[in-house]
Amino acid sequence: MSGSFVIAVDGPAASGKGTIATGLGKAFDLPVLDTGRLYRAVGVLMQRAGEDLDDTPAAAARARMLTADLLDDPGFRTRAAGEAASRVAVHAGVRDALLAFQQAFAGQPGGAVLDGRDIGTVIAPDALAKLYVTASAERRAERRWKQLTAQGETMALAEVLEDIHRRDARDGGRDAAPMRPAPDAVLLDTSEMTIEQAADAARRIVEAARARWEGHNRPS
Ligand code: DC
Repeated sequence: MSGSFVIAVDGPAASGKGTIATGLGKAFDLPVLDTGRLYRAVGVLMQRAGEDLDDTPAAAARARMLTADLLDDPGFRTRAAGEAASRVAVHAGVRDALLAFQQAFAGQPGGAVLDGRDIGTVIAPDALAKLYVTASAERRAERRWKQLTAQGETMALAEVLEDIHRRDARDGGRDAAPMRPAPDAVLLDTSEMTIEQAADAARRIVEAARARWEGHNRPS
């Protein structure tokens, strides 16, 4: 385990990991990176440029062009952007191109919180604390449906549930960094939890990891 205070929060779409990561950032005064935003940006910027999401070299080139100032775009929060992100995320060239950006964020002197799919396995395997946040597909679909509806999108809950199943299959079945918990991640099933309960549980997991780390590193 490295000395920097990095918290990895992984999990499937709409599991609550984004809210949990934001809460951990506040609780521990750390900057937070929603790494899904990077993949969403690549997908949406390709679509805006009229490019084919299955075109591996074009997708990798787009990922290499990505800079922090391009990430704050409300167009990246839509249902279509999530689908586009999941499609470009299968390209190993895209993942390689986004690696340095994410590792630089994780390597900030004071530490950082990153949420995504492969933070604990690929981006920050030495993270101080790793959480894998899950919830049933039905609960995740309800949450995502509420969020998209609040943003003004119109679709049936059943369509969002289909999206969730398709995203799970694609994110978990790809060759490049398939979505899976790191062997040393703590699993947090938020199906029956409120946001506050989930945030609280996550904070306790990180506090326990930090206490263990401090115990190991205490000068004797
Ligand atoms: O977390 P999200 O819904 O914003 O992620 C959108 C897609 O991006 C997701 O379906 C898979 C991909 N992704 C990834 O492959 N690795 C990450 N670290 C984050 C997201």
